[in-house]
Amino acid sequence: MSKRGTLDIRNVSKSYDLDKAELKVLDHINLRVDPGEFISIVGPSGCGKSTLLRLAVGLDKDYNGEILLDGEPISGTSLKRGIVFQDHRLLPWLTLEENIGLALENSGWPAQKRAQAVADHIALVGLKGFETVYPHQLSGGMSQRAAIARGLVSKPEILLLDEPLGALDALTRLRLQEELLRIWKTEKVTMLLVTHDVEEAIYLSDRIIVMHSRPGRIASDIKVDLPWPRDRASHQFADVRREILRSMDAHAPKEAEAA
Ligand SMILES: Nc1ncnc2c1ncn2[C@@H]1O[C@H](COP(=O)(O)OP(=O)(O)O)[C@@H](O)[C@H]1O
Ligand SMILES: [Mg+2]
Repeated sequence: MSKRGTLDIRNVSKSYDLDKAELKVLDHINLRVDPGEFISIVGPSGCGKSTLLRLAVGLDKDYNGEILLDGEPISGTSLKRGIVFQDHRLLPWLTLEENIGLALENSGWPAQKRAQAVADHIALVGLKGFETVYPHQLSGGMSQRAAIARGLVSKPEILLLDEPLGALDALTRLRLQEELLRIWKTEKVTMLLVTHDVEEAIYLSDRIIVMHSRPGRIASDIKVDLPWPRDRASHQFADVRREILRSMDAHAPKEAEAA
C-alpha cells in the first residue's frame, strides 16, 4: 500500500473551452510525488502550473487522466490537501485566528481540538501574539505566513504552493524560504511548490520538474542531490542552476512561435 502523502498524477490532460476554440493547456502529465518529498515545478508563465495545482487540490474536475492521493482518486477539495496562493486570500473582516480556523469549518473536529490546532499553527509560522489582528495589520510576509498556517492547519498529507513567495521583497523571500524548510522538516508534509525562481527551487527541493508550454508538459525531472543546508554560492549549486536553465531554455518557444 502507498504511504501517506503519495500524489500520483497519471496521464493528465486538460483543455479550456474558449469562445470558438479549445485551448489545450496540459498534455499527458505524469508525475509521482513520494511521501515527504519536496518537489518544485518551474516553467514559463502560461505553461499550466497553476492549472495543474488546481486539479491536484480538487478545485477543477474537468480533465482527462487520473490524480490519486495515497492510491485513492481525489474528488473535490479535501482537508488532506492544503493550498497556498501567491496572494494570501485572507478575509479582511476576520482576525488571523478566525481566518485560520475557517479552514477547519468542515473538519468535524470538536471546538477544543480546532482551537488547539489554530494556536499550534500560528506558533509554527512564528505569528504568536498576532492572533487577534486583522489582515490589513499584517505585512506581506506575515500574511503569507498566515496563509501557510491556514494551508497546514488541517494536517494535510500534501501542501500545494502556487508561487507563495512571488510577491514578497527579496529579503522577506529568503526568510520565508528558511521557514518553509523548517516547516517541511517539522511537519514532514509532502510539498509541491510552483515557483518562478530557479534558485528558490534548488534551495528547497529534492526534485525539480521543468515544464514547457503550448501545451504544458514535463520537459525534465531533475533530482537535486545537494547536502543540507544548501549553499547558494557553491559550485554544485551553480551546476544544478545551469542544468535547469539549460532545460528551460531548450524548451522555450522560438520567438516566431511566441509572437
Ligand atoms: N479558466 C480559464 N479559462 C481559459 N483559459 C485559462 C483559464 N485558466 C488558465 N487559462 C489559460 O491556460 C494557460 C495556463 O494557465 P496557468 O495554469 O495559469 O499557467 P501558469 O500558472 O503556468 O502561468 C494560460 O494560457 C491561461 O491563459
Ligand atoms: Mg500560475
